[in-house]
Amino acid sequence: MARSTHQFICRSCGALHPRWIGKCNECGQWDCLDEYEVDPGRTQDRQLGVAESARGGGETATVAMPITEVAPTDQLRLPTGIGELDRVLGTSGEGDEGRVGGVVPGSTVLIGGDPGIGKSTLMLQAAGRLAGSGLRVLYATSEESVQQTHLRAQRLSVADDALFVLADTNLARIVEQIRQTEPALVIIDSVQMIYKGDLQAGPGTAAQLRACCTDLVYLAKTAGVAVLLVGHVTKDGQLAGPRLLEHMVDTVLYFEGDRYHSHRVLRAMKNRYGTTLEVGLFEMTDRGLQEVENGAGLLAAEYQPHNGSVVCPVLQGSRCLLLEIQALTATGFPGSAKRRTSGLDGNRLAMLIAVLEKRGGLRLADQDIFASSVGGLKVSDPAADLAIALAIAGTHLNRTLPPGTCAIGEIGLGGEVRHVHQMPQRFAEAARLGFRQIICPPSRATRDGADHVTTVASMAQALELLD
Ligand code: TYD
Ligand code: MG
Repeated sequence: MARSTHQFICRSCGALHPRWIGKCNECGQWDCLDEYEVDPGRTQDRQLGVAESARGGGETATVAMPITEVAPTDQLRLPTGIGELDRVLGTSGEGDEGRVGGVVPGSTVLIGGDPGIGKSTLMLQAAGRLAGSGLRVLYATSEESVQQTHLRAQRLSVADDALFVLADTNLARIVEQIRQTEPALVIIDSVQMIYKGDLQAGPGTAAQLRACCTDLVYLAKTAGVAVLLVGHVTKDGQLAGPRLLEHMVDTVLYFEGDRYHSHRVLRAMKNRYGTTLEVGLFEMTDRGLQEVENGAGLLAAEYQPHNGSVVCPVLQGSRCLLLEIQALTATGFPGSAKRRTSGLDGNRLAMLIAVLEKRGGLRLADQDIFASSVGGLKVSDPAADLAIALAIAGTHLNRTLPPGTCAIGEIGLGGEVRHVHQMPQRFAEAARLGFRQIICPPSRATRDGADHVTTVASMAQALELLD
């Protein structure tokens, strides 16, 4: 039976429909279907063509085999040489050599982030480091010319014969260059700008994204090339294009941070080959992105306590970072007082304000309250509760904690300060950065590294420490 060559693709979720309907029954969006032309020769055979051309052609299709007979690959990961990126991409391996972090050959990684956040810079730096280690890398840019990329590379001190640059937007031509250069890693900057000539739709449309991404994922898997795709995000911070892009790739990373701050945070939203808990920290300098290897980088070197500011050791993945939490209260109107957060959870703030009122005796109903984590890092660790509450109370009462003090603890609805996990690690990091006095809940946790621990069982007790 002849197959229809026209289908309809949802702009929102990428689902395919045989006929036009007003509402996509996959995602529930209205009026979001675009016509999608499927030529009968396309599908798997054509995809195989892409992979074969990249491998130099000739190999047969895959066959099913018992898992025990699968030959292990020699190289589990390609370390990019940028420790913070490798950490987020995931680590594997045990034994003497330790765990190696990096991109898995044959995997596809999507990196999203606001314009100007530093995606291209990070990719070019990673490409340069990888090329420096002797592996070939192809950096295909569809947004800049090769001269512009060269200029940027000069600024980043990236120069290596193993790094190939290509300015093209046509997928077929990019694949042809992959075949010719045989790289270990391909970077496509950006996936929204490339297109397949045999589709009617323009670059960036759901149809193009679906087709290009399918081919690139297939190419990565069959030719064993690691593919890094740079993706744009929409105004509300979601990766542009159908969510299907996120389903198709192995790893989705977000590069975030305040453009007006120099710190950048790389986090994994999905990772088939590693944890999504780790974050990578960078600082944008005039010579590109520098890794921030320890937590000190987020806390100003000349940090001085002041009212409305409390330091807290928070956990981000396997590492502990000292963060400054700031709060400000200002006279507002009862019933319509503003509560705004930056980097902190708004619901958590509302809960802490309620606890401060009920259990701490503060009157905040007519106060506008602003709270933020300095440096732009998003904090979800409940251990920051005590620091947030002390910062709000401090600014409201015009009191400050003594210098060299930090606070750790989760606050319950009863106003009790609760124990949090990994206390020894937090103590050690605080002590390392010179915080000698730690306010925390009573526990059996080790007190090594802290000269003075002040235990507080309730929030009211903690408020008494404000001076
Ligand atoms: P870019 O990597 O082009 O961002 P994206 O690809 O995510 O859009 O980064 C551009 C910004 O980074 C730009 O505003 C300037 C800044 N930058 C530096 O501060 N130092 C540098 O060495 C480079 C290359 C860029
Ligand atoms: Mg860019």
